[in-house]
Amino acid sequence: MAKMEVKTSLLDDMIGVGDMVLLEPLNEDSFINNLKKRFDHNEVYTYIGSVVISINPYRSLPIYTPEKVEEYRNRNFYELSPHIFALSDEAYRSLRDQDKDQCILITGESGAGKTEASKLVMSYVAAVCGKGAEVNQVKEQLLQSNPVLEAFGNAKTVRNDNSSRFGKYMDIEFDFKGDPLGGVISNYLLEKSRVVKQPRGERNFHIFYQILSGASEEFLCKLKLERDFSRYNYLGLDSARVNGVDDASNFRTVRNAMQIVGFMDHETQSVFEVVAAVLKLGNIEFKPESRANGLDESKIKDKNELKEICELTGIDQSVLERAFSFRTVEAKQEKVSTTLNVAQAYYARDALAKNLYSRLFSWLVTRINESIKAQTKVRKKVMGVLDIYGFEIFEDNSFEQFIINYCNEKLQQIFIELTLKEEQEEYIREGIEWTHIEYFNNAIICDLIENNQTGILAMLDEECLRPGTVTDDTFLEKLNQVCATHQHFESRMSKCSRFLNDTSLPHSCFRIQHYAGKVMYQVEGFVDKNNDLLYRDLSQAMWKANHSLIKALFPEGNPAKINLKRPPTAGSQFKASVATLMKNLQTKNPNYIRCIKPNDKKAAHIFNEALVCHQIRYLGLLENVRVRRAGYAFRQPYEPCLERYKMLCKQTWPHWRGPARAGVEVLFNELGIPEEEFSFGRSKIFIRNPRTLFKLEDLRKQRLEDLATLIEKIYRGWKCRTHFLLMKKCQIVIASWYRRYSQQKKYQKIKSSAITVQSYIRGWKARKLLRELKHLKRCNEAATVIAAYWHGTQVRREYRKFFRANAGRKIYEFTLQRLMQKYFLEMKNKMPSLSPIDKNWPARPYLFLDSTHKELKRIFHLWRCKKYRDQFTDQQKLIYEEKLEASELFKDKKALYPASVGQPFQGAYLEISENPKYKKLKDAVDEKIIIAEVVNKINRANGKAASRIFLLTKNNVLLADQKSGTIKSEVPLGDVTKVSMSSQNDGFFAVHLKEGSEAASKGDFLLSSDHLIEMATKLYRTTLSQTKQKLNIEISDEFLVQFKQDKVCVKFIQGSQKNGNIPTCKRKNNRLLEVAVP
Ligand SMILES: Nc1ncnc2c1ncn2[C@@H]1O[C@H](COP(=O)(O)OP(=O)(O)OP(=O)(O)O)[C@@H](O)[C@H]1O
Ligand SMILES: [Mg+2]
Repeated sequence: MAKMEVKTSLLDDMIGVGDMVLLEPLNEDSFINNLKKRFDHNEVYTYIGSVVISINPYRSLPIYTPEKVEEYRNRNFYELSPHIFALSDEAYRSLRDQDKDQCILITGESGAGKTEASKLVMSYVAAVCGKGAEVNQVKEQLLQSNPVLEAFGNAKTVRNDNSSRFGKYMDIEFDFKGDPLGGVISNYLLEKSRVVKQPRGERNFHIFYQILSGASEEFLCKLKLERDFSRYNYLGLDSARVNGVDDASNFRTVRNAMQIVGFMDHETQSVFEVVAAVLKLGNIEFKPESRANGLDESKIKDKNELKEICELTGIDQSVLERAFSFRTVEAKQEKVSTTLNVAQAYYARDALAKNLYSRLFSWLVTRINESIKAQTKVRKKVMGVLDIYGFEIFEDNSFEQFIINYCNEKLQQIFIELTLKEEQEEYIREGIEWTHIEYFNNAIICDLIENNQTGILAMLDEECLRPGTVTDDTFLEKLNQVCATHQHFESRMSKCSRFLNDTSLPHSCFRIQHYAGKVMYQVEGFVDKNNDLLYRDLSQAMWKANHSLIKALFPEGNPAKINLKRPPTAGSQFKASVATLMKNLQTKNPNYIRCIKPNDKKAAHIFNEALVCHQIRYLGLLENVRVRRAGYAFRQPYEPCLERYKMLCKQTWPHWRGPARAGVEVLFNELGIPEEEFSFGRSKIFIRNPRTLFKLEDLRKQRLEDLATLIEKIYRGWKCRTHFLLMKKCQIVIASWYRRYSQQKKYQKIKSSAITVQSYIRGWKARKLLRELKHLKRCNEAATVIAAYWHGTQVRREYRKFFRANAGRKIYEFTLQRLMQKYFLEMKNKMPSLSPIDKNWPARPYLFLDSTHKELKRIFHLWRCKKYRDQFTDQQKLIYEEKLEASELFKDKKALYPASVGQPFQGAYLEISENPKYKKLKDAVDEKIIIAEVVNKINRANGKAASRIFLLTKNNVLLADQKSGTIKSEVPLGDVTKVSMSSQNDGFFAVHLKEGSEAASKGDFLLSSDHLIEMATKLYRTTLSQTKQKLNIEISDEFLVQFKQDKVCVKFIQGSQKNGNIPTCKRKNNRLLEVAVP
């Protein structure tokens, strides 16, 4: 499982120990190792109780982001990893919520990160305190005072590229809500000697370089400056440029910051003019000039620079020139003027430059204070931030180090006092028995320095004020006399012989055993620096300047306010301001940030143990831990303690219902922690030994793992259950949706079916209705029509008398007539030919003429037939009558008939009268011959044919021999009863004779002729005309013929075509004669 990110205690994920109080065993090595281990893991902050140790990482770490600010905001001090924000938050909240004024004391040696720490504290407070336009402006002004002061008060040194060369204490003031109102800055002892001289590898104050690099040409010209650094004696040349520092852009930042802080343009201008004047002062050089009276005199080498300075500052050149050449001593009413030699002139020049600059710096602080001053008179809560130089131990230590170290002694003292006091107060508050704590109290060292009678500072002042020759050596002598017996003072020359043989201690030095270590001071310069002398002539010259700022910087130059008393010495001034500071700090709740520098190279990742060890010693950090855990190493309010360890005991886990203290008691009893290891305070548990705490921590860690498993188990169960329930829920939702969907579909189907059925029914009903309505309509219409007719009839009946009767009919008839007329006229033109066989006939024009048209066609046909007939001769008429007769007799009865139609009936085929052959025959027949023809007479016995001549006359039928012409038989027509023949295509026929007649004795004749149809027809006609009786003509394929006494049946059968088309006749038996017709 991934590690939880949430921290509830500084003990979580601790690298080494986060709080040195918990260090076990506690000694210098373990202390350094712990710091190193943490430093190597980028943990640059470590606690000693509530004190923060900060190691300069020398690189930017991602631990100052707005997110981090939020993380530390409103959290308890020990809740998260050690951080400067935790301390800032604690201080701010206790100021805001408990109304306790705070001070944050940041100490450490040069380059340890004090100034950075102070800025971090300020930015944190700015981030978490109230917001709003006004508040933001105050914040901005407070924050922007830093770049201005840094530009004028910081410089590059060998230890730090941005070393603060002054001490700074800033009170930030808040209202009751915790919103910032303003602030007050106090500055301590600017290192003004840097203005005129810098050690090797160091620079003057940043502002000089910034002006020369960043100012525009125009501005430089105004200030009578040149951009080239090497033009100025006061600017050390060897390290004018610093890596990673952009002076030009910093200049813009500073000007911008000055504007934000509230500097008026003319003020800014004046400030830079003073800076320029200081820079140019360094270029004034002197040369010796001997006077007649033997006194050494000096003279300014090149007055050009002096002239420019005077132009810049509005000082009368002669006044300044004189001030560099003479010194006037006033005593009572007397004024004595002495000349200055070259060395003195240089001293005066440098003193002026230093004073100008340091006074300018103080003026800047005052001016900033004016701007950031709280605008209200209401009571304010105050948070002081002290960024002051740390303990300094160099090879050559001078007056400045002495002063600085004195300040640090004082701070250590206040630290001891306040820490112990707080510890004691806590014990009393918690009702724990107080045990005495062994620690070193440095009050004795403070006394060595600041004691009003025997203190070193007092001694120095005395020496400075003493008439007669005063040198550094006389001062040392005096020290040797007065302080010789002091435990912490060491000197070769002292009466005490302890150090007589100590070669490490030169004669011109004294050594003090500070709480942080021994420091050897060179006495050289102590008197001068303490005096901090500026010749009166110079201050008066300055006061006379036509430059309001410079004038204001030298108020003592005003002759009206002449003060013969010496100004307070630097030492006493410092002592006084330190005393005020201490007083101020004592009224506040202290918070400590102890800065440590990990190496001398300003490099990241390097941890120089010796260097750190040195700092730990002089910061007294081990001492600090010891004091902190003299009684009990660890303490914690009951609630968080119970909260943290409650899982170690069944009764307290998971919830303890009673008071927290009782819970902790139960817990500790259960865990079997020995009684001497802890104590119950009123609100806190006190644990004597860190081991106990670590044991608790180990148990907790183990238990947490078990709990994590348990939580994991429960969580997994819960997750699966939740997942299952969710799935179930989803399934139900899906099912319900699906059901809904399917029901919807079903419903829609039913609905559409219902609609269909409904529509059919409606359609049916509608049609029914329509039908009824139509019927009704028709009835109505019919009724209307009937009514109309009826009315019409009525009306007509009524009105008939008014109309001409029968007009309608007439018109009708006329129309009809006209149509008929037209019809007939048209018909006349369209008549077909007169041929009776022409079938053409025009189409009928009118339907009503249909029957007429048909009738007309018939009549026309009859008419044209008549016409046709009328053309006939009698002969033709007869022929046609015969043909007609034949048709009536044989048409559709005898197969031979159609062939006969085209043949003309000739009758007399034999020319009896003409042919002489038939003369006899002609003579025998006196009647007119109707038919003369050759026929075959069938022999009744064998069926063979014999040719005979057949003659028909008006009254008889004759058969004659063909050759001789002898008549063989003569039968009167009255004896012919019947003629029989077949229905087929043969020429056989029988002529039946009347029984009993004469001719009948030989039997009926069976003949065959090629002109059977003509013969039968003529026979029929002749018989009819003679006898007035119709001859019976029988057409049948089987008939009886009378042969003598017998009746023979002639039967026609279908024969083969053996003999061509000629039928053959055969006598089968007595009774049957068969004729085979092909
Ligand atoms: N917390 C930090 N994170 C990153 N860099 C830091 C931090 N603190 C200090 N430094 C670096 O160390 C340098 C020196 O720090 P700073 O100026 O604060 O030292 P100081 O203690 O004020 O020294 P002095 O006494 O000379 O003024 C800074 O310029 C910066 O580069
Ligand atoms: Mg600093």
